[in-house]
Amino acid sequence: MCGIVGFLGKRQVKEHLLQGLRKLEYRGYESAGLVVMTANGDFSVAKAATGVESLRDLCLKVDALEMPGMIGIAHTRWPTHGGATENNCHPHSSCDGSIWLVHNGVVENFQELRKMLVDKGHKIISETDTELVAHLIEEEMKGVNLETAVRAALPKIVGSFALAIICRAEPDKIIIARRTSPLLIGHIGANEFIIASDSVAILPYTKEIYELHDDELGIITSAGCEYKTFNGDELFKKMIDVDTELGEVDKLGFPHMMLKEIFEQPDVIATVCRGRLLADAGKVKLGGLEKNQDVAARLREIDRVIVVACGTAYYAGLLGSYLFNRIGIQAEAHLASEFLYSQVVYDPRRTMVLAVSQSGETADTIRALEEAKMRGALAVGIVNRVGSRMTRMDDCGIYTRAGFEIGVASTKAFTSQLSVLAMMMLYFGRERGKMALGEGQLLIAELLKMPDKMKKVLAKVAEIEKIAQRFSQAKNFLYLGRGYSYPVALEGALKLKEVSYVHAEGYASGEMKHGPIAMLDENFPVVAIAPRDSIFDKTKSNIMEVAARRAPLVVVTTEDCDDFDQMTEFVIKVPTVEMGCLSPLLTVVALQLFAYYMAVARGLNPDKPRNLAKSVTVE
Ligand code: G6P
Repeated sequence: MCGIVGFLGKRQVKEHLLQGLRKLEYRGYESAGLVVMTANGDFSVAKAATGVESLRDLCLKVDALEMPGMIGIAHTRWPTHGGATENNCHPHSSCDGSIWLVHNGVVENFQELRKMLVDKGHKIISETDTELVAHLIEEEMKGVNLETAVRAALPKIVGSFALAIICRAEPDKIIIARRTSPLLIGHIGANEFIIASDSVAILPYTKEIYELHDDELGIITSAGCEYKTFNGDELFKKMIDVDTELGEVDKLGFPHMMLKEIFEQPDVIATVCRGRLLADAGKVKLGGLEKNQDVAARLREIDRVIVVACGTAYYAGLLGSYLFNRIGIQAEAHLASEFLYSQVVYDPRRTMVLAVSQSGETADTIRALEEAKMRGALAVGIVNRVGSRMTRMDDCGIYTRAGFEIGVASTKAFTSQLSVLAMMMLYFGRERGKMALGEGQLLIAELLKMPDKMKKVLAKVAEIEKIAQRFSQAKNFLYLGRGYSYPVALEGALKLKEVSYVHAEGYASGEMKHGPIAMLDENFPVVAIAPRDSIFDKTKSNIMEVAARRAPLVVVTTEDCDDFDQMTEFVIKVPTVEMGCLSPLLTVVALQLFAYYMAVARGLNPDKPRNLAKSVTVE
């Protein structure tokens, strides 16, 4: 969500800014822009607001312009205030065009600030909250330098921001500031710096990366980078531990990142499990939970788990809550954005609040975790991005080791989260005597077989593509599942919505007859997830109810099941698993492929879904 890149160095920066924006493309955007400054303080600006094509169009514009300069800031925008127009596109400037800035975040006191600035005579030309910040700094910059003006302006902003600011009067400087929204600084070498919202844009240049924390400033000049608090106190920064395994992020011959990431899942599951499974003992070693005596003591006291997460991670967490209950630990999952408002009652001394997140930066999940920590609960994270915000906030946690996920529609993050949750079930189940040795060994054996079984699902790619083509014109879908397959139904429907823009609802199979069944007819396809498990007969009855309404049926079931063969020609069979709670790791892969091919069949680019952001850093 909104990407910032800035460069101050000894080379012409326009190309480097564009390259940085390209790396941040996965975050989602609807417009893009940049400004480059010469040593004399002259600016050249380029912007494009053509939705997911903005970056391509910006490159074309920049190619045609000279844009000399060795300092510049650039931005991809995901709109919050004002539509995706060129006028609203960053960078924004002060009235006299002497200050330019880019911003990630939301100015919550937008109305008051706008009124105050207009009353003082400022000419505001866009609908954005960002532009106000440029005017606010201009207002403060009377007889003082940029740093003083920025320090005076920032406390007037209520809300979140990552800012990069340049100004004509000080043409060898970028000032950056942060509250809530992420911002990193790469020290490239002697007197060269890159700033970005995410390390992925910095890593091609350097691994020497520092992070700005809340209410901190960075003053970058060719002489070096100084870090300060908003009050002006100097700060000493330590380098952050970036995900060194982060390789080149490219498609490796796949037409889209989403498909590449779907196909990576067998490797990801093997990586998640590597070194953690103790096959003979039927136990699991989760180093991240064994941080210190204190944490160990707290973990022993826990008798309740509250999962907080958003989007796909929430569905993984919902399934996780089933797994904790399975071993006798009371558990529930909450949407992080609702957690604070649903006033959940819990005893913090005995509760683990478990944040599940790919990015570790999702604002709502961070807020929920903060609140839980404040109340004294044990804060635990299941996070993918090493060194991300949640990993620095939690009391302990487990990395999902899924590698860098670029696809906005999360795929491998989901299956890696499920695998970690299954390992947590094993950990607590065995620790507390709720899982016998044999059951622990069986779970481990199943996890070890999972990569090969996943490959068998992936081998059905052509079959699934055909089914997607057959349904590509459908306008609605109902996804049904029961028990462990219910969160899978929710996730399958979400995937379809995200990339193909087809309306889809995930529903508990048993609940269908309490409403959604009224919608079913021959034009309303239903995707049913029905592996042969302990509740198969009940799910099957629900599917029969669908068939009786002549709704077209796609069934995802297991290889040992031919119950649906006569009912529909669209049956996708995945390998059987002995432990039903692991079947989602396979059934969901079929649904990911289905969503992917639906998008492709509808002529859409699944890597660039409209309106979505990969990392949602505003509440
Ligand atoms: C966004 C992404 C989803 C993701 C969700 C939670 O909505 O588009 O793919 O599931 O955020 O993100 P997190 O990084 O916390 O897992």
